Amino acid sequence: MRVLVVPEEQAAHLAADAVTAALQRAVAERGRAVLGIATGGSPLRLYRALGERVRAGEVDASLLQGFLLDEYVGLPAGHAESYREVVRRDLQVHVPLADHAVLGPDPHTGDHAAAALAYEEAIAAAGGVDVQVLGIGGNGHLAFNEPGSPFDSRTRLVELAPRTREDNARYFGGDVSAVPVAALTQGLATIAAARELVLVASGAAKAQALAAALEGPVDVACPASLLQLHPRATVVLDPAAASLLA
Ligand code: PGA
Repeated sequence: MRVLVVPEEQAAHLAADAVTAALQRAVAERGRAVLGIATGGSPLRLYRALGERVRAGEVDASLLQGFLLDEYVGLPAGHAESYREVVRRDLQVHVPLADHAVLGPDPHTGDHAAAALAYEEAIAAAGGVDVQVLGIGGNGHLAFNEPGSPFDSRTRLVELAPRTREDNARYFGGDVSAVPVAALTQGLATIAAARELVLVASGAAKAQALAAALEGPVDVACPASLLQLHPRATVVLDPAAASLLA
């Protein structure tokens, strides 16, 4: 695992270097590339930096397909905080992926188990994820794989941890009761199958989770500790996020 600690302004550019290189490798090998998309505050600067790479001609967005890590269950289709809409605002305005080239787990089918399976099949049919962008939860979660999630988990319906709903209330006007209680999320095995992982995090609120993930035991108590097992993982942190690392 590569761990880079740099000021936040540089972090997005280093992470964009890693993502761009992985996408270029995939395009060189297969003529197209699959980007794994995280939502949340952590990757925002990275997505802007990636947009600069696209405008500079380093990556051809028309050759990209994108898969979301997760999606809330219980919001109406088109809700501004549904991750499909968040991705439009936070990623697609910078990296112009066509709408049909971006998929997330579908929370509106009425059959979550079937939707989860269909999502796994769609990722497999695309040839798997070339590079997965990740944030980390304050409790060490990856996507909505909360502590205790098995390392061999695949896409499935999950309940959100109270800490996660509190952390995400800021996107729902500060009202925890407005945050959905459930989600469809890629499993830890789904995430680990990506050929490359790029995790970005900043701020002291993530320091404890990062110390557990990067230097603690590989254990489901900290889902992000699975990064230690991945053959190609890059972690880009600002000094505050890295402050509890040995
Ligand atoms: P954040 O969320 O990037 O908004 O901090 C990360 C996460 O919960 O995985």
